[in-house]
Amino acid sequence: RNNNMVKICCIGAGYVGGPTMAVIALKCPAIEVVVVDISIARINAWNSDQLPIYEPGLDDVVKQCRGKNLFFSHEVEKHVFEADIIFVSVNTPTKTCGLGAGKAADLTYWESAARMIGNVSKSDKIVVEKSTVPVRTAEAIEKILTHNNKGVNYQILSNPEFLAEGTAIQDLFNPDRVLIGGRKTPEGQKAVQTLKDVYTQWVPEDRVITANLWSAELSKLAANAFLAQRISSVNAISALCEATGADVAEVAYCIGKDSRIGPKFLNASVGFGGSCFQKDILNLVYICECNGLPEVANYWKQVIKINDYQKSRFVSRVVAPMFNTVSGKKIAVLGFAFKKDTGDTRETPAIDVCKGLLGNNASISIYDPQVTEDQIQRDLTMNKFDWDHPIHLQPMSPTTVKQVSVASDAYEAAKGAHAICILTEWDEFKGLDYQKIYGNMKKPAFLFDGRNVVDVEKLREIGFIVYSIGKPL
Ligand code: NAD
Ligand code: UGA
Repeated sequence: RNNNMVKICCIGAGYVGGPTMAVIALKCPAIEVVVVDISIARINAWNSDQLPIYEPGLDDVVKQCRGKNLFFSHEVEKHVFEADIIFVSVNTPTKTCGLGAGKAADLTYWESAARMIGNVSKSDKIVVEKSTVPVRTAEAIEKILTHNNKGVNYQILSNPEFLAEGTAIQDLFNPDRVLIGGRKTPEGQKAVQTLKDVYTQWVPEDRVITANLWSAELSKLAANAFLAQRISSVNAISALCEATGADVAEVAYCIGKDSRIGPKFLNASVGFGGSCFQKDILNLVYICECNGLPEVANYWKQVIKINDYQKSRFVSRVVAPMFNTVSGKKIAVLGFAFKKDTGDTRETPAIDVCKGLLGNNASISIYDPQVTEDQIQRDLTMNKFDWDHPIHLQPMSPTTVKQVSVASDAYEAAKGAHAICILTEWDEFKGLDYQKIYGNMKKPAFLFDGRNVVDVEKLREIGFIVYSIGKPL
């Protein structure tokens, strides 16, 4: 290899590390990128034809550079030793026990990565926080890295990731902004410039913004809190729409026309899910509490409370019109992933809705184009917050919920069902033959659209009793 070439190593081959590094490798052919992980199964999958995550366009990017300047390896220490820039993109879940349980970010994985970097490094390194972390984490990391000072210089940068799943490749190709936070010292600024030089290979220079370390760390938590807050706001309005005859889609359109509000991210839904919104807001809430700011903490906590309310409100909406009981009734659940175009089920609202229906003794038949039966069983039997702690991840679900079955398509799921619940906005649910589905259902046939994807008028003509979020009944 060319000795002047920058070598990148990324610790953590997950939803962020994998796609982000694949795009860096594609856009920077002169840089060698190695993604490492302690999970051998995950690394093997990245090296196979069946990548460990489903993400539109990802296969194509990986195929173009894997084996050329993009590598996936479980030899973590070797590649950290060789790298100039080390991205750390490990999971930072919510703590499940001890101080701050149920709120604070669990930095166990980050700390062990940092200790390992500190132990194996013999040359100067730029260590990049790619994971979402509490504000001032860089300070703690610095202490860990330099604890057994061997004359190695470390520069820590904060470079939070803003990609959304399902559109990760698009988001990485054409980001709204890339944020780099670093120390204001000459060495810090040099490190910022080195990372900037990587991104400006394909990102216009004016979209690469720099900030101080703490601003960069906090901006990530604040961005997710603001995004989630929009959804809770529109979902709160959806409840009022149902009570008054207003239509939330019309209201969202009308308010979104104000350029100060903007039209995006105003879709009412059964609730937001995904690995980050709740976790990052809880993290923010905890930091506020630790800093003696209970009013600020309570303000953001409300975003999560409304989201929980929306999910339980949906379950009540299902049970109430079905003569107040779903006991023993088959209910088809269409969609289990937390949004379309991903197989990811972390914190998906479908988990809480299914648990709510099971609590009412329903028997449910689930179909999702990208989620496996084992994943669904695992999600429905796991404790809250356990999903992101690999120690709890057994290869197979230890127990199964008997009242849950998994169907291979929407028609099978709905056969003989009293009701359908749409919980993910997969495009294919728009184009189903609802006449055929109706014909095979128990009557009266109910449809509860948690994503507002179906044509309500058309379904009512067929004979369905339709309930949509925030729309007149
Ligand atoms: P993930 O669980 O998919 O991936 C993390 C990986 O890190 C796992 O494969 C795990 O085995 C590995 N790992 C943990 N400890 C390790 C260690 N010490 N050495 C080597 N590997 C180790 O998580 P993710 O979704 O990619 O998220 C990673 C971080 O990025 C989180 O902080 C998250 O908040 C943040 N983030 C996620 C998204 C997203 O869309 N998922 C977007 C922006 C930011
Ligand atoms: C979100 C952010 O959008 C990313 O910028 C951020 O990087 C990421 O979190 C992260 O830090 O992990 P993601 O969770 O992948 O990305 O997906 P989103 O598109 O934000 O959707 C999150 C949830 O909100 C989904 O359940 C989605 O269905 C729901 N949602 C989204 C709505 O209910 N209504 C909307 O208008 C938009």
